[in-house]
Amino acid sequence: MKFTKKLTDAFNEQIKAEMWSSNLYASMAIYFQKAGLPGCANWMNKQAEEELEHAHKLIEYGVDRGGDMKISAIDAVPTEWAEPKAVFEQVYNHECYVSELIDKLMDLAIAENDKATQEFLRWFINEQVEEEKNAQAILDKFNAYGVHGMWCIDHELGKRE
Ligand code: FEO
Repeated sequence: MKFTKKLTDAFNEQIKAEMWSSNLYASMAIYFQKAGLPGCANWMNKQAEEELEHAHKLIEYGVDRGGDMKISAIDAVPTEWAEPKAVFEQVYNHECYVSELIDKLMDLAIAENDKATQEFLRWFINEQVEEEKNAQAILDKFNAYGVHGMWCIDHELGKRE
């Protein structure tokens, strides 16, 4: 079955969104590095790598299906945040937004009656559950420990591999 034009366009948009996410997290890593929080910076750099992997997964699948895959210009990402907790609030909100994008992609794959793409997207749907959960867990720590727990949070996030 041919990869439809609608799915090709939607995948190209999602590739762009994943690359933007990667840049967002790389920018957050720089913020934390400058703030003297290398553990948080480590977490963000790993997150940035994961987002690029997501983009490449989509590219590879689209190419395998014969889609006209393209890399478009990526919009600039934020560079400043009021405080560390605000960064993780943005992570959580952004991941909820990405979950909605993935859900819409699935809706389109169903509307286009492309079962292979529905199967492929299941991985992303499960991944988004993890992404939201991980961001929420970090926010929970901020709420539980307060700013005085920053060293503890930074130490823990430094362990992410
Ligand atoms: Fe690729 Fe964090 O969603």
